[in-house]
Amino acid sequence: MCRGMLSKDSPPLPLLLLLPLLLACHVESLQLTNCNATQLSELNDVATLNALSLSNCSLQQQLKNAIFLRFNQLLSLELQHCQLNSLEDYALHGLSRLQRLSLAHNNLSVIKTWSEKPLSALTSLDISFNTLIQVAAKSLMHYPQLQQLNLSHNLIEHLEAECFHNLSHLKHLQLHNNRLQLIAASYFHGLHRLSSLSLQHNLLGQVEPAAFESNTHLRTLRLEQNHLRDLQFLKERGLARLVYLNLSRNSLEKLSAQEFSKNFELQHLDLSYNQLKEVNNESLIGLESLERLNISHNIVSHIDADSLQPLSALLQLDMSFNLLSSLPAELFHANSQLKDINFAHNQLQELHPALLHQLMHLKQLNLAQNQLEDASWLQHLAPALNRLALRVDLSSNRLQSLNLSSLLFFEHVQLADNRWNCSWLVRHMLRTPPASLNFARSWPMLSAWSVKELLNIQGVDCFDGQHNRSIVLLDVGTARLAMGSNCDCEEPKDELATLTPPLTWPKIRTDRFDSRSVIIWMLVAIALAFAGLRWGQRFMDRKERSRKLQKVNEHHPLNKVELEAQRLRSDRERS
Ligand SMILES: *[C@@H]1O[C@H](CO)[C@@H](O)[C@H](O)[C@H]1NC(C)=O
Ligand SMILES: *[C@@H]1O[C@H](CO)[C@@H](O)[C@H](O)[C@H]1NC(C)=O
Ligand SMILES: *[C@@H]1O[C@H](CO)[C@@H](O)[C@H](O)[C@H]1NC(C)=O
Ligand SMILES: *[C@@H]1O[C@H](CO)[C@@H](O)[C@H](O)[C@H]1NC(C)=O
Ligand SMILES: *[C@@H]1O[C@H](CO)[C@@H](O)[C@H](O)[C@H]1NC(C)=O
Ligand SMILES: *[C@@H]1O[C@H](CO)[C@@H](O)[C@H](O)[C@H]1NC(C)=O
Ligand SMILES: *[C@@H]1O[C@H](CO)[C@@H](O)[C@H](O)[C@H]1NC(C)=O
Ligand SMILES: *[C@@H]1O[C@H](CO)[C@@H](O)[C@H](O)[C@H]1NC(C)=O
Ligand SMILES: *[C@@H]1O[C@H](CO)[C@@H](O)[C@H](O)[C@H]1NC(C)=O
Ligand SMILES: *[C@@H]1O[C@H](CO)[C@@H](O)[C@H](O)[C@H]1NC(C)=O
Ligand SMILES: *[C@@H]1O[C@H](CO)[C@@H](O)[C@H](O)[C@H]1NC(C)=O
Repeated sequence: MCRGMLSKDSPPLPLLLLLPLLLACHVESLQLTNCNATQLSELNDVATLNALSLSNCSLQQQLKNAIFLRFNQLLSLELQHCQLNSLEDYALHGLSRLQRLSLAHNNLSVIKTWSEKPLSALTSLDISFNTLIQVAAKSLMHYPQLQQLNLSHNLIEHLEAECFHNLSHLKHLQLHNNRLQLIAASYFHGLHRLSSLSLQHNLLGQVEPAAFESNTHLRTLRLEQNHLRDLQFLKERGLARLVYLNLSRNSLEKLSAQEFSKNFELQHLDLSYNQLKEVNNESLIGLESLERLNISHNIVSHIDADSLQPLSALLQLDMSFNLLSSLPAELFHANSQLKDINFAHNQLQELHPALLHQLMHLKQLNLAQNQLEDASWLQHLAPALNRLALRVDLSSNRLQSLNLSSLLFFEHVQLADNRWNCSWLVRHMLRTPPASLNFARSWPMLSAWSVKELLNIQGVDCFDGQHNRSIVLLDVGTARLAMGSNCDCEEPKDELATLTPPLTWPKIRTDRFDSRSVIIWMLVAIALAFAGLRWGQRFMDRKERSRKLQKVNEHHPLNKVELEAQRLRSDRERS
């Protein structure tokens, strides 16, 4: 079987390219835009079409009964953006092979069966972006093989009891962006194969405890952007296989004990943007497979020492934007897999040195926007931790000074916007620190020599008692590099580096201008020049003497005494 494709709106070039294909076999797929009902009824050769897609067509806001009767080979039908208000009761009559139907982006207010006989091949139905208000009890009964149903972006307030009742093959149900206030126990009853359910962006205040009781295969449940206050429904048996649960942007105020105790397989839990005040020893019991936990943007001011103990598989913890002022020293003692920790935007004043001692896989640690005055805990990380892969953010805290040599081998440390002690800073800025330590923030600055050009100047703020000062960092290295690329003069980079005695920063390649090493280099050169000069002079002297000696030999036969005296004299000269 060969596949062709025809689009009435295609520009001529693709059409030409498709021509050989079209001649070789029947058209199987047809896309029409901006068409009308007359054009649709005049189409020839439609009995072989497998896919028909109409978009932005004016079909008089209605589909007539049996309008697709001639298209009886269709597998896929799309009627999007056609301003359909209704379909006559048997509009889909004859589409017995249809597998995918999309009526998205229309103005439909009811779902019906739209066919006399079941569309027994239909697996995917998309009625999203319409104006459905409710789903009536038997409206889906003629779609027994349905696996995907998209009812999102409608105005659905109410689902009639058991409206999905006989959809025993349904795997993906999308009901997000509607106006549901309640999930009744009957709604999803019998959907044994349901694997993902989207209920986000509704007005849900209540989910009846037995709501998901029969959805034993549910893996993904999205409930974000609702008004949920409690999570009673999670305690039911049904959700033991849930892997992903998103409860972001609800109204949760507390996690009661054992709330998640039945959610054995949960890996991703998002509780961000709620009003949680604390996390207790019992709150997270049962989540032994959890890998990502997000409790950011709550008002958590207390976390129990053992609250993360059940989470032995935890990789990522986000508790940023809360009100924590301290963390128990043993908080992470059972979470040895943790890779990514975020406590940014809290009120932490100090960290216990033992807090991070267990974490051998840590890669990201974000503590920005806290009130830390001290960072000595950084010297107590796990000995086996690979510091070369660790990124730490300590910006916007209250640090005054740091043990810089303990940070040298981290991948990156963000230190901008702290309350650096000026004298400490100046002492440690004598040589530019390695690029992995970032103290500076950038200031945009109008350059003096070019009005249009905005210079990005790097600087550090520091405090010395009464005054706030700013130190501007001028990177001489880059200026010199730019100069160097214009001339072909040799740069004695490596010699400079090896000659430079280590000051504060060992093992850092210096390619910067360094006056000390230049002076040393010059001294060496001068010494060499002197040595060369002396050697040359002596060479000349010896030559002169041997010439004289030869002369003497020629004219007077040498006596022993004279020869001896001559040798003595020259020896004395040499020394
Ligand atoms: C449909 O479109 C064709 C071509 O654009 C036009 O000739 C015809 O009058 C239209 N029919 C109706 C009913 O609008
Ligand atoms: C849809 O059709 C109308 C006329 O019926 C036209 O004005 C509009 O530009 C079309 N929109 C698109 C996206 O083709
Ligand atoms: C959509 O349908 C409703 C009736 O269900 C009707 O009042 C409204 O005018 C229709 N809107 C459009 C754009 O056709
Ligand atoms: C409706 O959901 C299906 C998946 O179930 C998706 O493929 C489709 O794009 C969605 N429709 C719209 C208009 O987003
Ligand atoms: C639903 O399925 C049951 C059997 O499982 C059947 O007896 C019943 O008639 C079906 N209901 C509808 C509305 O198709
Ligand atoms: C939860 O949903 C929000 C959107 O409402 C999204 O930004 C967030 O990434 C989701 N959480 C997870 C873990 O996917
Ligand atoms: C936690 O949720 C917030 C808000 O939805 C989001 O910005 C953040 O990226 C999430 N964190 C993680 C680690 O997914
Ligand atoms: C939580 O567990 C720790 C350690 O077992 C214990 O010291 C503390 O009292 C517990 N807190 C509560 C509120 O039970
Ligand atoms: C600074 O850190 C280094 C390396 O971790 C350590 O050897 C040294 O003792 C520390 N210095 C001070 C003053 O704590
Ligand atoms: C800065 O540090 C020096 C010692 O390095 C100390 O004498 C001075 O008091 C500190 N200044 C402030 C404002 O803390
Ligand atoms: C220095 O800056 C801090 C905060 O940035 C501010 O609270 C303080 O008043 C400033 N002090 C002076 C003397 O400007």
